[in-house]
Amino acid sequence: MKKDIQYFNDKKRTKTPISLLTAYDFPTAQLLDEAGIDILLVGDSVGTNVLGYKDEREVSMADMLHHLGAVVRGAKSAWVMVDMPYNSANDPFIACENARMMIERGADCVKIEGWEEKKNVVAYLSGQGIPVCAHIGYNPQIHGSKGKTFGKTTEQALNLINSAKVLEDSGAVMIIVEKVPQEITALISGNLRIPVLGIGAGRECDGQVLVINDVIGITPTVYKHTRKYMDFRSMVLKAVTDFKNDIEKGSFPSEENVGHLSAKDLEGVLKAMGR
Ligand code: KIV
Repeated sequence: MKKDIQYFNDKKRTKTPISLLTAYDFPTAQLLDEAGIDILLVGDSVGTNVLGYKDEREVSMADMLHHLGAVVRGAKSAWVMVDMPYNSANDPFIACENARMMIERGADCVKIEGWEEKKNVVAYLSGQGIPVCAHIGYNPQIHGSKGKTFGKTTEQALNLINSAKVLEDSGAVMIIVEKVPQEITALISGNLRIPVLGIGAGRECDGQVLVINDVIGITPTVYKHTRKYMDFRSMVLKAVTDFKNDIEKGSFPSEENVGHLSAKDLEGVLKAMGR
């Protein structure tokens, strides 16, 4: 059964943590879905993690729609959230046109970076029936790719707490809080009815967000807020080096990998070739 916002609200109510991982392609989406991950985020981190871009600002709507389609095809029960890329949600009407394309492509929800200043966009999209997840704290599209913690000063902390409430009141169905001290995340989460998910924001919220490349060890760096569950890079490196060595020493393909023609059929082919 497809997960929905009611399911996530129930999880918040019953204090059952919500899991969110980024996904950028079909096979990964299938695996995460099979593992029971609640939400697959087609993040604009696809730019740096998959497309080789220098930062999130290079990611276009076309990029997002392309990867969204692949993830949607792989997600059976997980909820699919998609990032609105840089400059695609500056104004309510443009944001709505872009978000509609994403919903038509199969997204269950769009995610918009920005604090209180995004309230009109969130309100307009919500009013049009488009579920929106707000994303506050560190916003790569706005603050650049060098991540820093927000909410360490009283002014910034109050700004975050206020922004979260304003965005909920504007119709956001969920909020992601990135790189914020746990104490502030706890205040935000305790203050809202909607689920608050954190990335680098501590344990005191309704769920956790991580980037798939960090979790499986494609990313070489292990950041403070992540946990590397396997070393994909060295496993792939070993597999492809073994393949190269096997073909060089002639042990691949082996007999079991080879298809044959019967002697009689081969004779027919040779005859037809005039040999
Ligand atoms: O694009 C992304 O991966 C994100 C998460 C870090 C929340 O926005």
